[in-house]
Amino acid sequence: MHFLAIETSCDETASSVFTEEPAILSSVIASQTDLHARFGGVVPEVAARAHLERVLPVIDEALRQAGVRRDQIDCVAVHNAPGLVGALLVGVSCAKMLAVALNVPLIAVNHIEAHIYACRLAAGRDIFPCIGLVVSGGHTCLFHCKTALEFDLLGSTTDDAAGEAFDKVASLLGLGFPGGPAIEREARQGNPQAFRFPRSFLRDERLDFSFSGLKTAVLYTVCGQDLSQPLPPPGPERRADLAASFQQAVIDVLVGKARQALARTGLGRLAVGGGVAANRALRAALEEMATEQQAALFIPPLSLCTDNAAMAAMAVEKWRRQLWAPLDLDAHPS
Ligand code: KG4
Ligand code: ZN
Repeated sequence: MHFLAIETSCDETASSVFTEEPAILSSVIASQTDLHARFGGVVPEVAARAHLERVLPVIDEALRQAGVRRDQIDCVAVHNAPGLVGALLVGVSCAKMLAVALNVPLIAVNHIEAHIYACRLAAGRDIFPCIGLVVSGGHTCLFHCKTALEFDLLGSTTDDAAGEAFDKVASLLGLGFPGGPAIEREARQGNPQAFRFPRSFLRDERLDFSFSGLKTAVLYTVCGQDLSQPLPPPGPERRADLAASFQQAVIDVLVGKARQALARTGLGRLAVGGGVAANRALRAALEEMATEQQAALFIPPLSLCTDNAAMAAMAVEKWRRQLWAPLDLDAHPS
């Protein structure tokens, strides 16, 4: 069987072809970073229009790389939630059109759950039940993943997502967009102990997150208490120390909460996905914690952490249970 998947939830137009094993035959991503960089963040309307221009060429390229013709597609899958609604609508409309034209079933996949499924894909074997941690630009969530399709939410962010905090702090430090990779690069030159930033909820029982206090603490450290008369921008050494100390605060919270979730549920497996999981310092800290807790860590290669359509291979699990989506399928931003 050949599945064709489409992802357009934010600023990557992506398509993938995979089989029912699942085995990935192709994964094509057209990034819009250059379009949004000058605005310092993703502009929803710009993203939607760019998806519209790119989605069909990206699908054609995914088919070409997989060596599969359109008439060989047996099922169409699409991420229909969550994300920017205009952006999602492009992928959803396109998927519905293809399903009708090819007379094949349509499957809807949740983008957040798919970030965890990327761990299953990379592992090449079953990883459930496990604790799932999704750290992306829009979400920071902890799940008890009972099976590939049954997720119980254990906790989530009460304000900013981890990736959003990376992006905002990067902008504050003048490091550009997207912020995550820029902070990671900068942090390599800095001292993670130089500034003591808050680790919200770390000592708290609940498995929720909060990153807005951390962001504000960095803001006041960079600009001073009187924002009407901000301090001059930090020099290279101070900037690297700020980046490293901020990154360390995020890592301590993510690793601490994942450790709490493992201990509370007694599960011995941790799966981590989403763009922030591409951060090498976070990956190293998670590995250390997992080894200490004698838990198996599943974390995909970088290309499967940031947004892509291959992770929609979760559709294979839905196909096995005949969980088709109706042709009036809608896009859901949250
Ligand atoms: O999962 P993703 O590609 O898109 C969403 O679903 O949101 O995540 C994007 C987020 C952005 O906030 C980006 O700054 C962050 O992931 N990110 C990183 C790194 N690479 C991407 N954060 C920290 N370190 C990185 N290396
Ligand atoms: Zn994502």
